[in-house]
Amino acid sequence: MRELSDDLLDWYDVHARTMPWRISPADRKAGNRPDPYFVWMSEIMLQQTTVAAVKDYFVKFTRIWPTVSDLAAADDADVMAAWAGLGYYARARNLLKCARTVVADHGGQFPADHDILLTLPGIGPYTAAAVSAIAFDLPETVLDGNVERVMARLNDEHTPLPAAKPILMDYARSLTPQHRAGDYAQAVMDLGATICTPRNPACGICPWRTPCKARIAGTAQALPKKTPK
Ligand code: ADE
Repeated sequence: MRELSDDLLDWYDVHARTMPWRISPADRKAGNRPDPYFVWMSEIMLQQTTVAAVKDYFVKFTRIWPTVSDLAAADDADVMAAWAGLGYYARARNLLKCARTVVADHGGQFPADHDILLTLPGIGPYTAAAVSAIAFDLPETVLDGNVERVMARLNDEHTPLPAAKPILMDYARSLTPQHRAGDYAQAVMDLGATICTPRNPACGICPWRTPCKARIAGTAQALPKKTPK
């Protein structure tokens, strides 16, 4: 049976954003996967930081330290200096700690399993799911701000954040396909970043316009609701 995720994957095949840590559509079609080290590096950098700001740092880091073993052997001061300007410096310290743990305890290979990834420094539930899905195609569900907004609208969910988080996670889980989970995870994020935007969502060209309950109710722009701080 055709699933909602199939409509989004078809859209992603045409509209996926190009990013230095992604592989080309042709490589995806051939069944290739992105380097887990690149996926992990990009996801750490993208926490609290925009794609536009991350791109140059990602290229610089992977030029200087092309593998996790190179990074593990780096001088702390060199890594901190290369990180300068990206902010949230705890991420850089954990980046080094994590690289050294992957080399010392995992033979220089990132583990694929979500629960093992969670044991690594600086890797929380979001990053563990992202690496497991994007690098290894395991059917894990990522929930970031973009995905929360898409799920709230698709289901016309009016429970305010943060109380809505587990509800939105359940929606997201129920849509995650068993195949192409990595492409699917990035497709939802791209949809949220380019179509299902916080203001003026482009519902008319959305691959999920037909099933979207908020579009039908006219509530898309008002979702997700937030509990005032
Ligand atoms: N934001 C965080 N990770 C991302 C990814 N892999 N693709 C698009 N946006 C993202």
